[in-house]
Amino acid sequence: MNTEHLISTFVEYFEERGHRRILGSTLLPPPGDPVLFTTSGMHPLTPYLEGRPHPLGSRLVDVQRCLRTTDLEEVGDATHLTVFEMLGTWSLGDYDGPLSLDWGYGLLTEGLGVDPGLLYATVHGGDNRTDQDTASLRLWQDKGVPVELTAEDNWWSNGPVGPCGPDSEIFLWSGEGPPRSTPTRDDRWVEVWNHVTMSHRRLDDGSLVPLPRRNVDTGLGLERLASLLQGKPSVFECDVFDPWRRLVPPLWHLDESSLHIVCDHLRSAVVVLGDGVRPAGTGRGYVLRRLVRRVLTLLWRDDPSRGVGDLPQELVRHTLDHFRQDMPPGDVLVHLIEEEQRFRRLLERGRQVLARPRFRGLLTEEDLHYLHDTHGLPRDLVTTLRQE
Ligand code: ALA
Repeated sequence: MNTEHLISTFVEYFEERGHRRILGSTLLPPPGDPVLFTTSGMHPLTPYLEGRPHPLGSRLVDVQRCLRTTDLEEVGDATHLTVFEMLGTWSLGDYDGPLSLDWGYGLLTEGLGVDPGLLYATVHGGDNRTDQDTASLRLWQDKGVPVELTAEDNWWSNGPVGPCGPDSEIFLWSGEGPPRSTPTRDDRWVEVWNHVTMSHRRLDDGSLVPLPRRNVDTGLGLERLASLLQGKPSVFECDVFDPWRRLVPPLWHLDESSLHIVCDHLRSAVVVLGDGVRPAGTGRGYVLRRLVRRVLTLLWRDDPSRGVGDLPQELVRHTLDHFRQDMPPGDVLVHLIEEEQRFRRLLERGRQVLARPRFRGLLTEEDLHYLHDTHGLPRDLVTTLRQE
């Protein structure tokens, strides 16, 4: 089942259950949101989760592109991408968490053909914020799905402030042979679908207040589930990456893990540019800059003549089309190339400055501040240059 088919199966299943499809937004969250980028399908819906009536009603479904920088160091492994798509459903004060889990189980097993014996669920076991989620626990027990109870791992929030609440996560076994152990002890259990009961809002002072009505917010990682359904060992092998796997290896010879990082970061950089962000020294632009610089650092490790200008336009166009972005691929490449030129100049200057006797030994905090403030050399760049 390719990702397009997976999306339509998901959306139709929930439309049959009274949900209206809404259009996913860009990666830029609404003003006032505490995060730089949309990290989950719920971000564009925050005002509605906090009580405002939604024009399309109380049952919604969509596909939302997301960007997670907390996972940046994990990118390259089998399950993490920087930009990914999340299939989401919402009950705005309508049905409750166990019904959402019941439908989730139905879609996975009957709709998508997942073997029920490969599933595991986690449920909130209760703490000082909320009681044990016995209704979800009972639902899973009735279905014969094994359950692990946790507290911290089963509380979801979109950032330091905003809507939050207990969740139940569905895991799928990705290992060879029969399932073993539990989700918190064995990472071959891959989290595919999170069902959050949004019951509270966290305020600036850290306190929790109950929301005017309880909502359900679910998110399913599209590429993760697609790769598992397609029997692929990692998200980079699912059909979303087909053109990348076809066009990048002939261009640059890279080991498998570097190939994953290069494809992930370049694809993410294209999407971020397509959503209107430009490289900068702070905020969103700095995330973009870090993505491009990580790619270049990997490419130049073996051959400093490599550059992002080698990237075929076809690949940029495929990515922009996939995310329905109308920026011309040539413009994306121009931004990438300009950023590459800036990075080359910065590295050159950095090497010259670091060659001065003052910086040969151990660098103090004061040195690092000076290098940053006077020469524009960020700490991570200094570290990289010192390792050369
Ligand atoms: N908002 C929840 C998540 O991203 C569904 O996991």
